[in-house]
Amino acid sequence: MLSLGDPGPGPRSCIIDGDSSVRRKETEQEYDFDREIANLGIRIKDVDTLKVRGEVFDEITLLALYKLVHKKWISAIGGSISTGKEANVFLAEKDSTDIAIKIYRIRTANFNAMGEYIIGDRRFAGIKKTKKDLIFAWSRKEFSNLKRAHTAGLSVPEPFVWDRNILVMEFIGSQGIPYPQLKNANTENPDRVYREILQFIEDLYKKAGLIHADLSEFNILYHEKPYIIDMGQSVTIDHPKAFRFLKRDIANINHFFSSRCDVDDEKVIFSRVTGMVFPDGGTKTQAEEG
Ligand SMILES: Nc1ncnc2c1ncn2[C@@H]1O[C@H](COP(=O)(O)OP(=O)(O)OP(=O)(O)O)[C@@H](O)[C@H]1O
Ligand SMILES: [Mg+2]
Repeated sequence: MLSLGDPGPGPRSCIIDGDSSVRRKETEQEYDFDREIANLGIRIKDVDTLKVRGEVFDEITLLALYKLVHKKWISAIGGSISTGKEANVFLAEKDSTDIAIKIYRIRTANFNAMGEYIIGDRRFAGIKKTKKDLIFAWSRKEFSNLKRAHTAGLSVPEPFVWDRNILVMEFIGSQGIPYPQLKNANTENPDRVYREILQFIEDLYKKAGLIHADLSEFNILYHEKPYIIDMGQSVTIDHPKAFRFLKRDIANINHFFSSRCDVDDEKVIFSRVTGMVFPDGGTKTQAEEG
């Protein structure tokens, strides 16, 4: 556990866990990092967390974390759950409850890919287009998308707070282990799960006014029921590419379930969700789009 206790007033000291591998300062850069952590009063206990430090915990991120700790949204950070294309997810604690923290990497995120989803979303009109601003807008967008979906009663992690490139949310799992992604899950009744996911697509559209835009067996966790995650790229239904994204979501889900149960016609699903006729043009799955 990387324990982020309330640093309290006055000069702050760095408390590093007894593990000698942690104590060893391997490079000058790591030493600077430790000193920075010390200045912020963050207590390090997890070796794995330290491994990703240079890439994830830059100065901006540390300050945002410090703020979240100070405001008591986070009391400890545990090990890394996932290292994705743009973000790292960590297990953490608020008081004694498990929470998940998603940190978008400022240094290595592929922010060019983000533009397509932000441009055209009227909620984010006028954001500055520097890489940092785009990433901050992205985590705010994920928070706001999850909030809309959660408020509409959908099965998504409840978002608690965001600051800069950090999103703090409900942990979907048990005893510190996230539920498996749908692609690795044992679904006894695939037809039921398929129907639940189609219902999610429809409710997300009708009740929350959103399209997930990256729906697939990777962004659904499963334990007794599906939990839909990863909504940074989700768009409002008036986004210029909304229907294209919706068609792709439907195609991805149909592609995954077609070998497991009977699936509905994509055009029929599209019309059921939107009340409109399926637009012309091919529908590619994500795999085909590359
Ligand atoms: N709220 C959560 N509770 C438990 N585990 C989570 C939660 N959010 C994410 N995870 C874990 O982290 C993994 C990656 O999360 P997510 O899909 O949101 O990010 P990502 O795909 O890395 O994002 P990107 O690559 O777009 O930057 C998930 O597959 C899951 O194992
Ligand atoms: Mg994902």
